[in-house]
Amino acid sequence: MAPPVVRARFADSESVFKPDIFKGKVLFCTGGGSGICKGMTYAMMKHGANAAIAGRKLDRLTQAAEELSKGTGNTCIPTQADVRKPDQLKDAVRKTIEKFGRIDFVICGAAGNFLAPLSGLSENAFRTVMEIDTLGTFNTFKATIPYLRESHGSYIHVGVAFHRRGLPYQAHVSAAKAAIDSLSRVIAVEEGPWGVRSNVIAPGPISNTEGMSRLRVSGDEGAFESFIPLGREGVIQDIANATVFLFSDAASLITGEALVVDGGLQQLSTSSVPYPEAVLDPESARKLFKGKL
Ligand code: COA
Repeated sequence: MAPPVVRARFADSESVFKPDIFKGKVLFCTGGGSGICKGMTYAMMKHGANAAIAGRKLDRLTQAAEELSKGTGNTCIPTQADVRKPDQLKDAVRKTIEKFGRIDFVICGAAGNFLAPLSGLSENAFRTVMEIDTLGTFNTFKATIPYLRESHGSYIHVGVAFHRRGLPYQAHVSAAKAAIDSLSRVIAVEEGPWGVRSNVIAPGPISNTEGMSRLRVSGDEGAFESFIPLGREGVIQDIANATVFLFSDAASLITGEALVVDGGLQQLSTSSVPYPEAVLDPESARKLFKGKL
């Protein structure tokens, strides 16, 4: 039986938002030199924002900032910082303020990942990911919050959804991202009275990213698709669209939430039920359940 799956509309289309909604606003993005965070920054700049991108590698940041400025007609500056080092982050934020005078939006995106079983993980390996992801998020918050209180700004933390269950070889990332979910909720509650919002975007598998190239077992593009109810892996534009929405006034009452962008992958409980055949062909499912259905 050919499943009549309607693949979710490919997201790499014209934005549904007005092009100038972030005019005069400034984004500070850690991990913005490449991949998903670079795409999130591009989308914000396409809608009028200027930006500073922070990361460890100045060459990569400089090249990305030039591409982002050229591609959007707005200004992006590179600010070198290891998110594990509070002084470097404060310096990056100072440069951003010197250049633009304000910060309205912060993306905490810097992250580290690799596949390793918990029993084989060294103490330093576990600590390294906790420090980049969780301590890095804390450090970014501390460096930026005075400016977000002034601008009544908003945080987006790049999370995951797989930590809600047990994913093999991802204990370090699961622990780090669970902590980030908690930090984001507390930021939402403590900073809400200053008009500051905080949310998590949790991407599912996103094609052509460093993260996926590190996590793919087989190297096959599309390997997850049969488990994704909407029928396709994500693209960076999917996460960029969610970013524009969550930072926009359209989301002005949304805080402390985690927005999972994965085509429904996390909602599918994989059991012995063949999917999607079981929902597309109830007759064969009835046979499978021997009259119990
Ligand atoms: N399996 C097990 N342990 C690993 C590992 C792997 N694949 N890769 C690194 N480690 C361990 C190292 O062995 C080291 O532990 P040790 O001192 O006990 O040997 C520890 O992690 C730190 O590694 P190091 O390379 O010194 O840290 P770093 O700060 O230079 O790099 C990483 C950080 C490890 C996260 C690195 O993978 C990285 O920089 N990645 C780039 C960003 C990224 O991962 N992006 C994807 C985001 S989804």
